[in-house]
Amino acid sequence: MRRPMMAGNWKMVCDNTAAVELAGGIVADAGQTAGCDIVIAPPFTALSAVNEVTADSPVALAAQNMYWEDSGAFTGEIAADMLLSCGCEYVILGHSERRGRFGVIPDGFTEELRSVFGDNDATVNIKAKAAVAAGLKPIVCCGELLAEREQGMTDAIVSDQVRAFLAGCSDAEFNAITIAYEPVWAIGTGEVCDGDEANRVCGIIRGVVAEVAGQEVAEAMRILYGGSVKPDNVEGLMAQPEIDGGLVGGASLKADSFCTLIQVAARN
Ligand code: 13P
Repeated sequence: MRRPMMAGNWKMVCDNTAAVELAGGIVADAGQTAGCDIVIAPPFTALSAVNEVTADSPVALAAQNMYWEDSGAFTGEIAADMLLSCGCEYVILGHSERRGRFGVIPDGFTEELRSVFGDNDATVNIKAKAAVAAGLKPIVCCGELLAEREQGMTDAIVSDQVRAFLAGCSDAEFNAITIAYEPVWAIGTGEVCDGDEANRVCGIIRGVVAEVAGQEVAEAMRILYGGSVKPDNVEGLMAQPEIDGGLVGGASLKADSFCTLIQVAARN
C-alpha cells in the first residue's frame, strides 16, 4: 500500500510573518493526522522560520526548486545542502510554472520571455539526481498544456516527460521520487481534471515507471494529482486508485481548507 501525501505549494505567496502563521495553523489542525504524509513548500525565504514551527511535528518541509551544483558562483541559486540546513525533506522540481513553456509575459514584451525560468526535463533529471544524492526527496512535476490535450497529445507528452526526467535513475533515486501529474490547464484556473481522467493519466505514468524501473518500483511510486484541488472536489480525486495524494496551490494557503484535504487524503 502506498501512503498518501498531501503537499501544499505556496508558490510566491507569504512573507515570513504570514508563513509562520499559516504553518502554525496547519500544525495545530492537522499535525497529528495519521495515515497521510503532510508536506508544505513555503518560499525559500520563509523556510527557516517555518522550520521553527514544524520541526517537532509531522508536517514536513519542501523547497520549490533547487540547483544541482553543491556551491559556487551561481547568483540567485540554492543548493540541496542549503535546503537541508533549513529543515527541508522534499524539493518540488520541474513545476510547470518553472518550465520554459509557461510564464507571465509583462505587457510590451514578447514571447522570448516564455523561457524566463527555463526548467526542462533534462535539467529536472539532473536536479532530481543531485537532490537524492544530498538526501532530499524530489516531487517531480509533469503535465500537458491545454493545446496539447485538445490535440490528443496528453498521453504522449506526459509519457515523454516522465521517461526523460527518470532517465538513468538508480533504484535509490526511484525510491526517493514522488511524481505529480499537474495538467497545466487545471493549475490556478478552478477547472479541475475529472477524477476518472486524472486517474487514467496517473495510470499511464505508472505504466511508464514500470517500463523504465520495473513493476515493483512502479507499484511503490507515489503519484499525486495537482490542479485546482479544493475541499469540494478532493473526495472524487482521492478515491481514485492511481492517485496517491495531491499537490495543491490555492487551497493550501488557508489552514482549514488544507487540513480538510489532508483528512480526505488520509482516509483513502
Ligand atoms: P492550484 O491548486 O492553485 O491550481 O495550483 C496547483 C499547483 O500548481 C500546485 O503545484
